[in-house]
Amino acid sequence: MMLDRLTPQAPDALLALIRLHNADPRPEKIDLGVGVYRTEEGTTPVFAAVKAAEAQLLAEQDSKSYLGPEGDMGFVHALMPHIFGADPTMGGRISGMQTPGGTGAVRLALALAQKAGVRRVHMGVPSWPNHAQILADLGMELAPFDHARADGSADVDALLAAIRGAGPNEAVLLHACCHNPTGIDYTADQWAAIAAALAESGTFPIIDAAYQGLGQGMEEDAAGLRAVLAAVPEAFIAYSCDKNFGQYRDRVGAFYIMAGEPGALETAFSNANALARAAWSMPPDHGGAVVRIILRDPDLTAQWLAEVDAMRARMREVRAALAAAGRAGRIDLAPLGSQNGLFAMLPVTKEEVAQLREEHAIYMAASGRINIAGLTSTNLPRFIAALAAVAA
Ligand code: LMR
Repeated sequence: MMLDRLTPQAPDALLALIRLHNADPRPEKIDLGVGVYRTEEGTTPVFAAVKAAEAQLLAEQDSKSYLGPEGDMGFVHALMPHIFGADPTMGGRISGMQTPGGTGAVRLALALAQKAGVRRVHMGVPSWPNHAQILADLGMELAPFDHARADGSADVDALLAAIRGAGPNEAVLLHACCHNPTGIDYTADQWAAIAAALAESGTFPIIDAAYQGLGQGMEEDAAGLRAVLAAVPEAFIAYSCDKNFGQYRDRVGAFYIMAGEPGALETAFSNANALARAAWSMPPDHGGAVVRIILRDPDLTAQWLAEVDAMRARMREVRAALAAAGRAGRIDLAPLGSQNGLFAMLPVTKEEVAQLREEHAIYMAASGRINIAGLTSTNLPRFIAALAAVAA
């Protein structure tokens, strides 16, 4: 039988954690697994700005007829000033299209790079596990280098060496901010060095921007990306609104291309559109339409930005509380205070992760990644005590 030729595949480890956690009857359980924001009450509510825009969309939408493979271009354009700044098209050299979530954007960026001749992609590790999965699925080679040093700082020298040593037709995949899974971002000086090395070497930058606003601020979190774009002739940007608009399951993303000149941009998009058509035909509309409504309305935009600010402020508070705790057993929590975004890596073994789950009902990725937003002032002391017990 044909299907007998298939071998069983392990479920995606991060997504499998959701199910494991849901099935655990212990009321004190703590979910530090998949990357979703949670409030101090442990919930992931729909943003008020999203609710208001959805009400408007429901009242106003008069057709659900097809859009093209590029999706809702009103959404794609409305996001651009937030990502790229005051000259959002960089003189007509940047445009975009909508994608099913940030994953769709990363997939499209890598598939288009491959179509343009890229075979090898340099990437700091650890990284978001799906980056490696997408590369493997496309049959592209991953050239790994260490993202961070043991002291918790970014190993920018490893990145610069990878960029300078890359051959022609090689790309580098960068996280714009809130590095997943380490929370360790590059400083402004490091971004300047990265931009200069990219400009000099011709290595093609692919930037994954999935967490804008969750690190230091909307503008601050885009500064590295903008420094790169100001220095290089061409780049791809994969953008996600899943986190900063809280639209996770609605799958809201965008793929942007910066080209050397408008003709090249048009040709690149004709290829991107063909790839999108063959993969998903067109992206789901709802979440993108919601973002468009928010960003075209100054009051809703202000409300959304305030909600992003509140989200970021809470995560900074949790980070400060972890750093103030100092140590948990052998683990130094102090560096977590200055890292960014939803994630941090703890130097724990797979066995210790299993022990935390089995004995303390604490769920985290086997890699040692925790979702900072799963911690609250109520469960944080218990988390630190459990960590100290397990990682003595
Ligand atoms: C995560 O890393 O937890 C998130 O990006 C969710 C996902 O799709 O893996």
